Amino acid sequence: MRYGIIGTGPIAEAFIAGARSHCSADIAAVYSRTAESGGAFAARNGIPQVFTDLTAFAQADFEIAYIASPNRLHAAQSEQMLLHGKHVLCEKPITVTPGELQRLQALSDRQGRIYAEAIMYMFQPVRALLREAVAGLGRITGAQFDFCQLSSKYPAYLRGEHPNIFNPRLATGGLMDLGIYCVYPALDLFGLPQSVTACAHFLDSGADGSGMAGLEYGDKLVTLAYSKIGQGYAGSEIRGENGTLSIESISKLTGLTLHRGGEAQTLFGEREKADLMGFEAEGFEAFIRNPADPYYQVTRERALQVSTVMAEIRRLAGIEFPE
Ligand SMILES: NC(=O)c1ccc[n+]([C@@H]2O[C@H](COP(=O)([O-])OP(=O)(O)OC[C@H]3O[C@@H](n4cnc5c(N)ncnc54)[C@H](OP(=O)(O)O)[C@@H]3O)[C@@H](O)[C@H]2O)c1
Repeated sequence: MRYGIIGTGPIAEAFIAGARSHCSADIAAVYSRTAESGGAFAARNGIPQVFTDLTAFAQADFEIAYIASPNRLHAAQSEQMLLHGKHVLCEKPITVTPGELQRLQALSDRQGRIYAEAIMYMFQPVRALLREAVAGLGRITGAQFDFCQLSSKYPAYLRGEHPNIFNPRLATGGLMDLGIYCVYPALDLFGLPQSVTACAHFLDSGADGSGMAGLEYGDKLVTLAYSKIGQGYAGSEIRGENGTLSIESISKLTGLTLHRGGEAQTLFGEREKADLMGFEAEGFEAFIRNPADPYYQVTRERALQVSTVMAEIRRLAGIEFPE
């Protein structure tokens, strides 16, 4: 299928590589704010058309818009693409608020177009293995999901520059960028919690550099920890009465090890980034071919649940995004 790309950062390049290798994707066009940036990106990635006008881009000849712009722009750009009849695969977080997501999910239905969040967790084949392994742990007594990854932009921030990722006006920061990878498996494996607690550590820019949340389920507590201002090595784990599953990378779902009776068994190892992106393109194209696929509804419901819990974490932790 033909794709149009919004955004010219490294993640868009990784997605193109994955979509080409997994789906033979035809990358037809790229939108950038500037001809220089768009032209350089097009030259590097072999893309024939560059647009600096979003309306002209929306009218170009492709079926799928892949959106990899700063978070604040996701909803408006998704809306414009859907109104022009494109299917939309939008980077995480798909919108800033659950209200925006509900509105755009309804719009995509009216338009008869597929609209999904590009979140690695939901498109990895290893998700099934994870769920199966968790079912084998017996009654789950607790879990911690941890994603602490020092941002490559943090030194620039400390030098007094203003990288997008620490700019609340773009609805970025730790929770929106990394915390979401902890919320997804918690809700996918255990459903909605009975209650939520949360706190965050703020940078002078107003962005949350790191944070914690507790999801109370009545029979277990699930803790989430994320940081963009320090590198973590602890990983994640799910503890049950029959064993513990440890997960090295909760975003990529790699390094899965089952610990039981003093023995450790590796269930899954590493995965290339291009493959992670490729699975997203593959899964999304499958939804276009079969919109009645029940898993499409699962991804939509999960995206809305995650967005709702993220909004609650922001409210409790005082994370705010000025207009
Ligand atoms: N799935 C993953 O592993 C993964 C990894 C990284 C990021 N992401 C997601 O991908 C999205 C983009 O992240 P990123 O780090 O690439 O963001 P970014 O570098 O801040 O921005 C991406 C692109 O958007 C354009 N842009 C930058 N600032 C803008 C502004 N103020 N207004 C309008 N357009 C602007 C730029 O392209 P032009 O200058 O060419 O217009 C830039 O290349 C985010 O939603 C993020 O959560 C996902």
